[in-house]
Amino acid sequence: MASSGSAGRVEVFDEPEALARAAAELFAASIAADVDWRGRCDLALAGGSTPRRAYELLAALRVPWPALHVWFGDERCVAPDHPDSNHALARAALLDRAPISPDHVHRMRGEEGDRDAAARAYERELPRSLDLLVLGIGPDGHTASLFPRSAALGETLRRVVAVVGPKPPPHRLTITPPVIAAARRVVVLAAGGDKAQAVRRALHDPVDAANCPAGLLRGARWLLDRAAAAGIARPSGAAPAAGTARSDPEIRRIA
Ligand code: 6PG
Repeated sequence: MASSGSAGRVEVFDEPEALARAAAELFAASIAADVDWRGRCDLALAGGSTPRRAYELLAALRVPWPALHVWFGDERCVAPDHPDSNHALARAALLDRAPISPDHVHRMRGEEGDRDAAARAYERELPRSLDLLVLGIGPDGHTASLFPRSAALGETLRRVVAVVGPKPPPHRLTITPPVIAAARRVVVLAAGGDKAQAVRRALHDPVDAANCPAGLLRGARWLLDRAAAAGIARPSGAAPAAGTARSDPEIRRIA
């Protein structure tokens, strides 16, 4: 991924459904390009609720499913079928709706008693470089389960660690900054006004990953709805037609 100091590409959508559709199409195109290039795609899914609709739409698209491997950026330390499980959300929205081989779904075993051992086991499996890493952002600027002022933000060797965070459920497994830096493509999805301040801090304020971990994602591709983009520079001139992406020349785009 481009360095965290460089500008990423930001697209703003008037409606959450348009954001989800664009995200699904972006994921499908990215997967197809990776499979075309190297015969496989290693995709890590974001947790939380924002990506659900994008996953549902992705399941209905033409994707070289047999060559797709699915990973997770983080997981809550609950049973894999628990309502709070990121795996459970992915299963309902995508994994049970698309012909993805069960052997190609690599879930974090957050339910295990020895969380550090579970993190180390996942780290041994995790590819050195993910082809596509999908992430969300919390109102406090966290991403994956990298929360502000967490010791995990200083990890340079471990790629998956067990953490305790302020967002319930507290116990989690998460990728660390080296995994984000090594990912070939990072896409961030954010929707809702409660994310606007964190998006602004991540994209416009001086990078301060300790207090806003999403600042590590500045070089990523961001797909936002209008509410989440409220805190960042907006284009002058008329609003785009409803439901279309507003590509804001004042919001930096990768060439
Ligand atoms: C998690 C996620 C977390 C999430 C953000 C946004 O397991 O909680 O990995 O980083 O992406 O908190 O969550 P929402 O999409 O639910 O707002």
